[in-house]
Amino acid sequence: ASTASAQGAAHRILVASNRGPVSYEVREDGSLHARRGGGGLVSGLSAIGPDAGALWVCSALGDGDREAVRRGVAEEGVRMLDIDAEVHADAYNGIANSVLWFVHHMLYQTPLEPVFDAEFRRRWAAYETYNRAFAEALADTAAEGAVVIVQDYHLCLVPGMLRELRPDLRIGHFSHTPWAPPEYFRMLPDDIRAQLVWGMLGADRLGFLTWRWAHAFMICAGQTDGERIFPSWPSGDPRRAVDHTPTGGPPLRSTEIGVHGLGADADFLRRRAHEPDVDERMAALREQIGEGRRTIVRVDRTELSKNIVRGLLAYRQLLDDHPEWHERVVHVAFAYPSRQDLAVYRDYTAEVQRLAEEINSRYGTPGWTPVVLHVKDDFARSLAAYRLADVALVNPIRDGMNLVAKEVPVVSDEGCALVLSREAGAFEELHEDAIEINPFDVTGTARALHEALTMPAHERAERTKRLAAAATALPPSRWFLEQLHALEALDGTQPS
Ligand code: G6P
Repeated sequence: ASTASAQGAAHRILVASNRGPVSYEVREDGSLHARRGGGGLVSGLSAIGPDAGALWVCSALGDGDREAVRRGVAEEGVRMLDIDAEVHADAYNGIANSVLWFVHHMLYQTPLEPVFDAEFRRRWAAYETYNRAFAEALADTAAEGAVVIVQDYHLCLVPGMLRELRPDLRIGHFSHTPWAPPEYFRMLPDDIRAQLVWGMLGADRLGFLTWRWAHAFMICAGQTDGERIFPSWPSGDPRRAVDHTPTGGPPLRSTEIGVHGLGADADFLRRRAHEPDVDERMAALREQIGEGRRTIVRVDRTELSKNIVRGLLAYRQLLDDHPEWHERVVHVAFAYPSRQDLAVYRDYTAEVQRLAEEINSRYGTPGWTPVVLHVKDDFARSLAAYRLADVALVNPIRDGMNLVAKEVPVVSDEGCALVLSREAGAFEELHEDAIEINPFDVTGTARALHEALTMPAHERAERTKRLAAAATALPPSRWFLEQLHALEALDGTQPS
């Protein structure tokens, strides 16, 4: 029996995520200005068309969004939840970004962190409240038997909460991050681990970007509440699922595990990369780089897991070891602001800037700036850099996928050598034609940069073609439809 309220329960396909497809800004004259975001989910959802009855449930994130909710300004197909700002901050900054993100990306400096104390428990309560607000909004607006796909580590508890409210729904969850290795996941307090795993297992199906992350989840799940959770792996069973008996014993339920390696959106990128604003930025970048020089490009959020500091150290070592590159190469590094509410991100941003300046003052000459660092987000300029790069450096210490590694080969004008961390999800699909690095090995990374810079042009071009083919194998539209169809195809007769 459904508890959906008759009024709003019209939607057949629902997506839930912290950050939605649109954000609002209050202009000086008081008017609201809407800005649409990009990303795989936005283009993926567009594949189902406007008439499919889809609804995207997301958080109101800033003052502009909250104002939009108050004024009842809503984009068609989007519902923003105006969750109390403090609850949101504790859930988003306090748990999602500083605990769950850290666990999945292995970012803790473990001699001192993490500390799971009363303050952590207080924030955890906010994370529960925040997840409950999503579960209730979804329960209110989903049609009987609708499909709901919940996104990411912000909303791990939603599948379980939603199943209790609406057992008729088909619930999916997709993780855009890695999943922690079991030893790391076990740092979380046991009751919290169990809540996370049971929250996720409330879904009929869990999606991951690679099998590496999917298997990590299955092992972590198997170690939680061992008597009641049974991953059907690595038994040789081709079916990937986690069977479980909820509290109170049988019946056994099953959560299917699927992998969908989100690819780059070739049509969009190729079109966008040839618009006039991108050409303008190419000209400006060429001027900054200087005539006849090689270019090593990186584009990231200034994110701890992206390993920007070791990237700069490797570039510095390249200049130390190979003086022949002086005056002949420029490192174009775009490090866009991210999560600046967290002190550790602000410190990291400062360190990136300090190191770039140090390299420039140590090696630079009046006519040559070795590192060109830009910190203001500008997508057109990123595309311009992708087009003219000779080498792309993608060296995360751990990354769910990394779309930059997939986007560069698609838009590169003349071929670009890809130096790629083996800890990025994208490595699984791109390893044959990328230059592999261990992201912690600065000397090895410097060597890989040298190898990339000296790769013959024809080889670079050929590898880039193959990389582009692999990178676009699963465009966002198919990535989304695959998940949708897999959920629709599930036998709806499971015990709830
Ligand atoms: C990662 C997460 C996304 C998130 C993005 C940007 O890719 O998987 O869910 O939206 O980072 O982070 P932010 O905290 O700015 O939303």
